[in-house]
Amino acid sequence: MAAEEKIWVKFKLNGCQVGKQISPRRTLLEMLREDFALTAVKEGCGKGECGACGVLFNGYPINSCLKLAVTLCETDEILTLEGLAEDPLMKKIQNAYVNEGAVQCGFCTPGMLISSYSLLKRNPNPSEATIKESLSGNICRCTGYEKIVSAVKRAGEESD
Ligand code: FES
Ligand code: FES
Repeated sequence: MAAEEKIWVKFKLNGCQVGKQISPRRTLLEMLREDFALTAVKEGCGKGECGACGVLFNGYPINSCLKLAVTLCETDEILTLEGLAEDPLMKKIQNAYVNEGAVQCGFCTPGMLISSYSLLKRNPNPSEATIKESLSGNICRCTGYEKIVSAVKRAGEESD
């Protein structure tokens, strides 16, 4: 059997221009975890239903399990939780999650934080309905969601 042809992909990742030769079938999720060791990006369902694999793509949250890595182009920018570690708004959100008790097993947390960050970046004072809508693509099997919603509200208030 002929070896599968690999394709060069170049893009901006967490502030750095990067390049990688990859299989055309590789998802963005697989490439981030396996080729770049960015393990804050979690694989839950692998089919767009849980939000655990959330990253920012050109500033907007997407499920990285649904995007083929070869579709990225040089001007595209991917931000994972690792790339936002020093961001003041992300730090506020993480503190609010801790203070509200919004983390249990933590598996959903990186995806939740990405969605929360994306929302608060655009709307620092979202209503409860807006928070719930913004997090509706993220599934948590542990917390019952109320503490997560409270954490996002608190982070927004503390950003005023
Ligand atoms: S792993 Fe991507 S949405 Fe569940
Ligand atoms: S804290 Fe366990 S899945 Fe959300």
